[in-house]
Amino acid sequence: MNTYLREITKENPYKLVFVCLGNICRSPTGEGIFIHKVKEAGLESYFYIDSAGTAAYHTGERADRRSQETANAHGVHLPSIARRFEYADLEEFDLILAMDSSNLTNINQLDRRGRFTEKVKLLREFDPKPGNKEVPDPYYGGQRGFENVFEMVDRSCQTILDELKPYIKR
Ligand code: 4NP
Repeated sequence: MNTYLREITKENPYKLVFVCLGNICRSPTGEGIFIHKVKEAGLESYFYIDSAGTAAYHTGERADRRSQETANAHGVHLPSIARRFEYADLEEFDLILAMDSSNLTNINQLDRRGRFTEKVKLLREFDPKPGNKEVPDPYYGGQRGFENVFEMVDRSCQTILDELKPYIKR
């Protein structure tokens, strides 16, 4: 059973959080893309979208300049300010989207009783071209890595939005 699916109303917006390691490259890209798609569809009052990192090194920082430039080239703004993912996020969010399996492991380590397993997913489980299901860390690589991240995250976010749309009660 997919317990992350539920009725979505303006009074009870659906909450998604994208999670990576530093919260400056991959998860801010997911957050920005999903916000962009929701706005384009006129659905912004039905969603609350955020991102976080499992590590705290970059807390308070804007997204990496390379991620911002890549997103901007696609018409997408990245509003995130880095913060660390915490236990309360497991309770608060409806869908928790890990960028790679190490992020997934770190998130699940916070969930000792396994209460939230159904809503913690690898983002690329929703990618129509899932490959190895990981969004690779672009931090130490070149520009091509950032474009690659954008494309796989964009595809995955489209699938998620399409899956959630029928649950919106206007
Ligand atoms: P992110 O990328 O997890 O996609 O935000 C990283 C950013 C910074 C570091 C690692 C990954 N770092 O080691 O500082």
